[in-house]
Amino acid sequence: MSTKPVTGTEKRLTDRQDNWWIEPLFTVLSLGIFGLYAMWVAWNRQHYEFGPYISPFYSIPIPGVHARDLDWLAISPAFLVLWIPLGFRATCYYYRKAYYRAFFWDPPACAVPELRKSYGGERAFPFVLNNLHRYFWYLSIPVMIFLWYEAIKAFFFSDGFGIGVGSLIMLANVILLSYYTFSCHAWRHIAGGCLNCMSKHKTRYNLWQRITRINESHGFWAVISMFSVWFTDVYIRLCSMGTITDFRFF
Ligand code: FES
Repeated sequence: MSTKPVTGTEKRLTDRQDNWWIEPLFTVLSLGIFGLYAMWVAWNRQHYEFGPYISPFYSIPIPGVHARDLDWLAISPAFLVLWIPLGFRATCYYYRKAYYRAFFWDPPACAVPELRKSYGGERAFPFVLNNLHRYFWYLSIPVMIFLWYEAIKAFFFSDGFGIGVGSLIMLANVILLSYYTFSCHAWRHIAGGCLNCMSKHKTRYNLWQRITRINESHGFWAVISMFSVWFTDVYIRLCSMGTITDFRFF
């Protein structure tokens, strides 16, 4: 950060002279556009599968039920799954920090003043719902299991086992989503919280240590996994529309 002093009677929002606004702007654009894209995909109800590939937005966490079996529903089957990852991300500690800063300027960055005059914390509606994060984590586990199932299925084509670009994209996506889900602060607390003496709980301590290692980069996993979900859907959509051809390695 530059230490150049403010001169004269010039009034500034902040004395910071670095590009502190880039991060909140990136958050507004990426979260805003992703949110709109997710809603559009859900309403669209088309081009969400190609061969053994299925968009993560349409991976329904109900055994034996495929999204296309639910075409008779008045609402898009995507909404049956979408509320879980959206609730999970909306209540995530990383995203809370990101959207409080970017959308509410609460505050937008360190040493930049906030807009509000009083502080109510997360005790009133709707922000009190952020306390449900741990429960969204529980709900995300079956979603992750189904995403892994769909990712493995992506290697089985109508003519047998094979590897396509889409198979690898779906696999990479579910790995990134697993890093995001299992680097969660709530999961870390479930594993190692409320213990007076870690040495008496070796298994939980070891698990807590492993989670802590990936938890340090939780913000990174949050962002990269959002883009991977986005990219996976776009890839499958473009293949399904015939815009691009899926390359098969064998
Ligand atoms: Fe981000 Fe739990 S804190 S997913």
